[in-house]
Amino acid sequence: MIYIQQMKDRLDALKAQRAVRILALETSCDETAAAVVENGRVILSNAVYSQIDLHALYGGVVPEIASRAHVEKVSQVVDAALDETGLSLDDVDALAVTCGPGLVGALLIGVSYMKGLAYALAKPLVPVHHIEGHICANYLTFPELTPPFLCLAVSGGHSHLFAVEDYGRYRLIGCTQDDAAGEAFDKAARVLNLPYPGGPRLDRLAEEGNDRALRLPRAHTDGTYDFTFSGLKTAFLNAVNQQRMSGQAMPPADLAASFRRAVCDQLTEKTLLALRDTGYRKLALAGGVSANHRLRAQLSEACMREGVTFYCPRLDLCGDNGAMIGSAAYYRLMRGEIADLTLNAQPNYSLI
Ligand code: KG4
Ligand code: ZN
Repeated sequence: MIYIQQMKDRLDALKAQRAVRILALETSCDETAAAVVENGRVILSNAVYSQIDLHALYGGVVPEIASRAHVEKVSQVVDAALDETGLSLDDVDALAVTCGPGLVGALLIGVSYMKGLAYALAKPLVPVHHIEGHICANYLTFPELTPPFLCLAVSGGHSHLFAVEDYGRYRLIGCTQDDAAGEAFDKAARVLNLPYPGGPRLDRLAEEGNDRALRLPRAHTDGTYDFTFSGLKTAFLNAVNQQRMSGQAMPPADLAASFRRAVCDQLTEKTLLALRDTGYRKLALAGGVSANHRLRAQLSEACMREGVTFYCPRLDLCGDNGAMIGSAAYYRLMRGEIADLTLNAQPNYSLI
């Protein structure tokens, strides 16, 4: 109680500062990442430790292994982020942490670590929504981007169309009715026996394939702007199995290209529909799947035709990182959104 009052009292002084530097931590899944970000827009450092090698053996993220690796690496990664800037813990103005959604054990490591730092240093702690972080990766890439805009957020757990009405004000326009786009890419990659993480590997393989080799069904969803990927995934699995049994399998690159095209076509089609109906003149892409080469190119072309300005994060900011959390935290901090020390991990935290 005393802590939170002290932090709120300090807010006006913070808001008047020319430069507000936030040390942000992200541990919601399989990346231990920390960064220092100035005024929500300038990356002073961005340290990421990826656990890919630890999980590759199992073909996917093992939550217990992820939590343990976060515990082992978190201090090192935070130190690396500070060292790169030459700042000390005393020099940062606020702390931020992803508190959800994500794996509960993984989130808890970050939340507990940052609560400890916030108490010890008597600095404000800002809780951040992981997907809001992904959206804000666009602010780091494009200093001129401001709300309002439409955002397609596609990751391993999300496929959402949001209207970003203002900083921190989101309206849900559409979402997946079953699998997330990243999940669909990962499952299709598994069918093709590609190692984890499947999405980026399928993307790479698809670059050399014929995207019209395999006919896949068009998706139909009741909600106009909603997505569905599970029927597509099953159709893909069945087609590949049938080909293998008949001994006439298409080249994996053709299969990958056909699947990627089906996913990207659906995402593009629904996004364009939403753009036309809502009248937004700016579209931002966000989340791990925003690294997909075809999706970036296809949305960029579609936006050009529509006279809409297209934004997508720099490739190194598409996946999970601390900088995007530091950007989202800045706008939350300016609105006075400071956590007290009862902050907990919220695996199902909703953005709206
Ligand atoms: O945002 P992210 O790093 O973690 C979550 O918040 O889920 O997204 C990870 C997801 C995984 O499903 C991964 O396969 C997918 O994003 N992904 C891709 C590509 N890069 C990452 N999917 C398709 N093409 C890519 N290039
Ligand atoms: Zn993510």
